[in-house]
Amino acid sequence: MKMFSYKASFLLLVILVLTSFVYSEAQQCRPSGRIKGKKAPQGQCNKENDSDCCKNGKMYTTYECSPSVSSHTKAYLTLNSFQKGGDGGGPSECDNKYHSDDTPVVALSTGWFNNKSRCLNNITITANGRSVVAMVVDECDSTMGCDEDHDYQPPCQNNIVDASKAVWKALNVPHEQWGGLDITWSQNA
Ligand SMILES: *[C@@H]1O[C@H](CO)[C@@H](O)[C@H](O)[C@H]1NC(C)=O
Ligand SMILES: *[C@@H]1O[C@H](CO)[C@@H](O)[C@H](O)[C@H]1NC(C)=O
Ligand SMILES: *[C@@H]1O[C@H](CO)[C@@H](O)[C@H](O)[C@H]1NC(C)=O
Repeated sequence: MKMFSYKASFLLLVILVLTSFVYSEAQQCRPSGRIKGKKAPQGQCNKENDSDCCKNGKMYTTYECSPSVSSHTKAYLTLNSFQKGGDGGGPSECDNKYHSDDTPVVALSTGWFNNKSRCLNNITITANGRSVVAMVVDECDSTMGCDEDHDYQPPCQNNIVDASKAVWKALNVPHEQWGGLDITWSQNA
């Protein structure tokens, strides 16, 4: 009897450990693959405002998912121009339009963009003791990059809110620090 209860509790422990493992597995966002960087042809890859260009031979991790969304999702804010001729490339995926640097608009990593489901929704971005409302107009592609379509820029990380100048301005971030900032965001009702 004693032996049995020992075995039973051991079994229970194993089941518990396995269950929590499977559960955390489901919660986690793992890379979907890797792509090899190609050097941009002459004159390609707009280096405007420190945009990153793929390095020849360097491996870049890709993601189809992003960390789960909450009322204060942690993210990394980057700078992008959604204007014509800006470093964002073509018009925005959500509305096929360009957007002035003076309007607060963002692109979200592929997982958060979630197959256009957040298109033209507004999110509240909080950092630096301030908040700004910005509209989702584009995807920051975490699944592909280093090709002509992506201006020879690497795939996006999976936790990116890529924002226009107006967002940086509204957050009152000193100009020298524009380009990279830890933020939280939430989706507006
Ligand atoms: C990028 O840099 C150029 C030149 O310094 C500047 O004129 C432009 O406004 C910048 N774009 C953004 C989105 O900050
Ligand atoms: C994305 O949305 C389109 C159009 O609604 C649909 O056809 C497609 O299957 C969706 N893709 C994924 C990965 O959910
Ligand atoms: C998001 O905000 C913009 C600008 O205030 C507004 O025009 C738009 O209707 C809002 N979108 C939604 C889905 O509420």
